[in-house]
Amino acid sequence: MNISNAKQIRDKEMENKIETNISETTSTDEHSAAHTKFEVPDPIVEVNDLNLYYGSKQALKNIYMDIPKNKATAFIGPSGCGKSTLLRCFNRLNDLVDSAKVDGEILIDGDDIYDSSIDITQLRKRVGMVFQKSNPFPKSIYENVAYGARIAGENRKSVLDEVVEKSLKSAALWDEVSDRLDESALGMSGGQMQRLCIARAIAVEPDVLLMDEPCSALDPIATGKIEDLITQLKESYTIVIVTHNMQQASRVSDFTAFMYLGEIIEYDETETIFLNPSNKQTEDYVSGKFG
Ligand SMILES: Nc1ncnc2c1ncn2[C@@H]1O[C@H](COP(=O)(O)OP(=O)(O)OP(=O)(O)O)[C@@H](O)[C@H]1O
Ligand SMILES: [Mg+2]
Repeated sequence: MNISNAKQIRDKEMENKIETNISETTSTDEHSAAHTKFEVPDPIVEVNDLNLYYGSKQALKNIYMDIPKNKATAFIGPSGCGKSTLLRCFNRLNDLVDSAKVDGEILIDGDDIYDSSIDITQLRKRVGMVFQKSNPFPKSIYENVAYGARIAGENRKSVLDEVVEKSLKSAALWDEVSDRLDESALGMSGGQMQRLCIARAIAVEPDVLLMDEPCSALDPIATGKIEDLITQLKESYTIVIVTHNMQQASRVSDFTAFMYLGEIIEYDETETIFLNPSNKQTEDYVSGKFG
């Protein structure tokens, strides 16, 4: 082989390399373009390529989303689409399900919550949860709210009194129960019990409050009280709420994600999702055509 041939071969190799690099770059760009996140102001939770499997069944698929701080974000979608599963990823409650396997990344305030160094008790203090069915402890109203502080080692009565009063006031319950703090929480009405669970959750001052259909067992008046409460609480906390009630999502949330079969189909400002969605499935769902 003469020198000029060798040079031609080298040049050809170089050309091929450059072409491969260009096509790799292009395909990476296409990949990330397919997962362009809807941009929210001041994100506190960042989810990147999250997948969750229950055994061999995939329940969450390629979730990319950011959740804005001190706003209310709603998850909507038909039964079984993965709303509760996604919510439970944010405080690693799915760890309690043996068959559940998670991959991908969730950052809260920049911390990777699936990193092995994360203290799960600490995480669940930062990310509180209120369930569909209220679950007060069979203790007094006072002890339910003081619970988190006591667990953390606080026993001074003056401090506990302050935590209980502040939390019950924030949960719009103080006026109804201040004269019966020593009575059992189990004697309260359903709506009061749910607000007590909210008071218990916010007593430890979480950053994020997760609510999974918090009003589905409540009458319209109790529901209205919780909705007013959510509107107030989002000034201090980031709220993520799952709801089947479209009016509720449009009343309380700033941002809404529509999920279907384990995917986020559309995520945008609540007004856009309800009044001007880009996706046909979103439109059909919010207008009641399916679900
Ligand atoms: N512990 C579990 N083990 C196995 N599969 C589960 C478990 N929990 C949920 N699933 C499955 O994962 C999928 C998503 O369920 P998920 O409870 O997250 O839905 P959802 O949107 O909250 O529904 P709903 O509106 O009825 O509460 C469903 O197919 C469900 O059957
Ligand atoms: Mg659910």
